[in-house]
Amino acid sequence: MKLQSKSTTIFLFWYLIYIYASVLEASNDSDGGFELEKKEEHHVKISDFPTGFFFGAATSAYQVEGAYLEDAKSLSNWDTFCHSIGCGENGENGDIADFHYHLFLKDIEIMHSLGLKAYRFSISWARILPRGKCGEVNPAGIMFYNKIIDNLILKGIEPFVTIHHFDFPQELEDKYESWLNHEMQEDFVHLADICFKYFGDRVKYWTTFNEPNLFTDFAYMWGVYPPARCSKPFGNCRTGNSDVDPLIVMHNIVLAHGKTAKLYYQKYKLEQGGSIGIVVNCLMFVPLTNSKLDVEATQRAFAFYIGRVLDPLIYGDYPQEMHEYLGNQLPNFSIHEKYILKNSIDFIGINHYSSIYTKDCTNSTCSPTANRAIQGFLDIVAMRDGILIGESTGIEDFYVVPKGIEEIVNEIKFRYKNKPMFITENGYSSPDLHEKRVNVILNDTKRVKFHQEYLEFLAKSIRDGADVRGYFVWSLMDNYEWLSGYSVKFGLYYVDRETQTRIPKLSAIWYKNFLLNKTYPINVRAYA
Ligand code: BGC
Repeated sequence: MKLQSKSTTIFLFWYLIYIYASVLEASNDSDGGFELEKKEEHHVKISDFPTGFFFGAATSAYQVEGAYLEDAKSLSNWDTFCHSIGCGENGENGDIADFHYHLFLKDIEIMHSLGLKAYRFSISWARILPRGKCGEVNPAGIMFYNKIIDNLILKGIEPFVTIHHFDFPQELEDKYESWLNHEMQEDFVHLADICFKYFGDRVKYWTTFNEPNLFTDFAYMWGVYPPARCSKPFGNCRTGNSDVDPLIVMHNIVLAHGKTAKLYYQKYKLEQGGSIGIVVNCLMFVPLTNSKLDVEATQRAFAFYIGRVLDPLIYGDYPQEMHEYLGNQLPNFSIHEKYILKNSIDFIGINHYSSIYTKDCTNSTCSPTANRAIQGFLDIVAMRDGILIGESTGIEDFYVVPKGIEEIVNEIKFRYKNKPMFITENGYSSPDLHEKRVNVILNDTKRVKFHQEYLEFLAKSIRDGADVRGYFVWSLMDNYEWLSGYSVKFGLYYVDRETQTRIPKLSAIWYKNFLLNKTYPINVRAYA
């Protein structure tokens, strides 16, 4: 780790300890010790949610673990990608990230002190099976996740484990082009088998994949995630076919899920009693106008983006709209595969951040990338009549639209007959990416407001009958945000990159109070 000069480091260290101590002291006071705004406002409370509802926070392996080559871990696709092109503004990567591989016990302490009931994290495939199914299981990798799981349970925190959150051993890419090859299905099932075998006695909530819809598009259509494959007009990659590859990749992922679920149901479920789901990136699509064409384009957007993953796993095939628009380009499932896929999830993981307007392209002018079958001949836009759909955030295409969470939950509830749902990610990042003043970052009133408002709308959907069983803040702490490196921050905790000290932001204090069923005014400043 790059360290500053000794005296600056010592100063910074004591400064951070001072801030940390004052916040802890303040958060223990009955009024929080801050300048509370004494205005009576209604705020969502934990008592607005059903008993047993899981409130938690989430992270993923590459984004927090670091230790990228320790204890026999192999290089992952993301290690290789970021080392070659340099991800993030300053060529950053996840080599060190939040050093969670070494600080996980402290992080579990933090979760406990917040009162979290659940923690969602992912497994680094390259740590457990450095060479995929052709190599040995790495005992150090197994031990690491065993320690995490045991310590979570000791603190009464339910582990929610994602098996694949974008990263896998680079060797699988080099050997047979990973997800473009059906061999990857067997490799994935082997990984899942190892996870169930070693962790399944204690892990009761499994998700196979995180956001296969976002992952396939970013990696194989736009070519911005590894293995960076695409073709024009989507991008200028060395190789790839943006109109075809995403369909092949999704087909392999969906089948890998189906086979994994079958394995779990046949070999493990009876004894272990857990459940299995998948996590989908769920933008809420809103018609740009109320014309019939835009309304139909909005339905197509759901089918092409969300239904593409969920329809096969619940109904056994891709949505009818995809068949209609893609014809023979869409890979087929055999009767046997459809049988395996149908009803292969116990719950749906919803990652929801934003809503976006949808516009038809069959009858109006659109960008060359939108006006294509692979995109369902539709475009997404953020403005209507010159007004943004919601306040901007640190991520392009993510806007603050609190009502969207109620709308997306209701749509999913309707389409999938109220299958149990978890909000597996929801979070806010400030658009001010260059803000360096720690006290400003810590006073994250906008993040508090974001969570309060989204939770209010979530509570409403639950009151109206939606079977939502949990909510995970993305993220427990600031971490490595893929192409944005460390400048985009989603955490409840600020992480000092030099010392790896975790400091609670105002949002962490709010979450802690919320979990204690205490209201906490939005406009409170925690830090001078
Ligand atoms: C991903 C996370 C990511 C978050 C914020 C989700 O798409 O699952 O890994 O950090 O969004 O961009």
